[in-house]
Amino acid sequence: MTHPSITRRKFIRNGMITGVALSMSKGTSWAEGHSKRIRVGVLGCGSVSHSYLPHLSQCPYAELVSACDIRPERAAAQAAKFRIPHHYPHIDQMLSGAEFDLLVNLTDMQEHEHLNRQALEAGKHVWSEKPLANSLAAGQALLELARKKGVRFWGAPCMVESPQFAFMAKTLASGALGRLAAAHAEYGHTGPDWSAFFYEKGGGDLPDLAVYNLTTLTGLLGPAKSVTAMTSIITPVRKVQDKGEIQVEAEDNSMLLMEHADGLISHVQSGFNYFNPHGHDGSQETRHTVSIVGNRGCMGLVGYDWDPRGVDVATEDHPAYERHVTDKGDFVWQMGASLAAESLATGRELLITPEHALHVLEIIQATRESQATGRRIPLTSTFRWPVVR
Ligand SMILES: NC(=O)c1ccc[n+]([C@@H]2O[C@H](COP(=O)([O-])OP(=O)(O)OC[C@H]3O[C@@H](n4cnc5c(N)ncnc54)[C@H](O)[C@@H]3O)[C@@H](O)[C@H]2O)c1
Repeated sequence: MTHPSITRRKFIRNGMITGVALSMSKGTSWAEGHSKRIRVGVLGCGSVSHSYLPHLSQCPYAELVSACDIRPERAAAQAAKFRIPHHYPHIDQMLSGAEFDLLVNLTDMQEHEHLNRQALEAGKHVWSEKPLANSLAAGQALLELARKKGVRFWGAPCMVESPQFAFMAKTLASGALGRLAAAHAEYGHTGPDWSAFFYEKGGGDLPDLAVYNLTTLTGLLGPAKSVTAMTSIITPVRKVQDKGEIQVEAEDNSMLLMEHADGLISHVQSGFNYFNPHGHDGSQETRHTVSIVGNRGCMGLVGYDWDPRGVDVATEDHPAYERHVTDKGDFVWQMGASLAAESLATGRELLITPEHALHVLEIIQATRESQATGRRIPLTSTFRWPVVR
């Protein structure tokens, strides 16, 4: 994934619109509405922090207070680079150190659950990279804990906030595609080479890659009722920078079918063995990676859902593909924690909800269960839908 292109001026301009609206609705002054900054502690200073921190450091609603990593040299380097006043080698020290409001969890996927719990217990709001937890039950318990503590709990990804997602959701709601029948989405590359956790138990292409398409398709089509799936391991041995040669334990090749309401069926495929002539450069991707078809029209998202380039629509009335929303505005995939800070500062509700993230987590869990048992797996969780403003 590439770096953000948001400008501070644009961010502030958007913020001003929201801030004005909010201050008017609450009867407070513009200055009052706008001046609040959420104090942020960033946990995990590896690869993705290089995308999050530039965005957070430009966010008018966030004040970077602390950085933490069990590899202390990483926390120190990011603190120096982004002028973060405090850095720590352990979450215990971070939580008992300089005061902050929002913990941004950018650690290994398997670490999120216990670190999110510790932060929520300490009364911090949490923005977590995916997944929120290692299982649906644990994730639901964390959400319950957040409610008990009176704090907010959100998780990546954040594509439901993109203009392309909004356009697709509105097109579907308009009925322009007729009776919906099927959808397909795919995302793959040849796999990260820096950290072993992507390939260890609890890692895999499902929580790292399929999570984007699962969030997009359930966000557009509604909660899934059941899952049938197959997964496999294509590359059993990998070489990674932190641990050398490792045995791959988690799936690196996945295909799953989701049953939505009214007979609508969708398919997601993802993997760490997908050659792509553009590598992982989203800006070069011009294929439809998400497509939806009904009996009177079809729609394709140009590029990746995390780096959208436009939406093509063809209908009975206009059978030639027409391209819409080629501008993604301020949207970048690494903006989730900044959006969380904005929401806490202004009260603006996000389309991103923890219930949606937990539903996606259940689909991932069900995919693995379907592979292990050969059965179709019914789902129990749901979320607020449609996801549209
Ligand atoms: N790298 C990307 O481009 C990218 C993009 C989107 C999402 N993500 C997600 O971001 C998360 C992190 O991925 P990454 O690529 O940055 O991995 P990474 O290995 O580069 O970084 C993870 C960092 O977390 C630290 N860490 C691990 N356990 C910790 C603990 N208990 N306390 C404090 N620090 C701890 C590690 O030392 C490491 O520096 C994952 O959930 C991944 O799926 C990564």
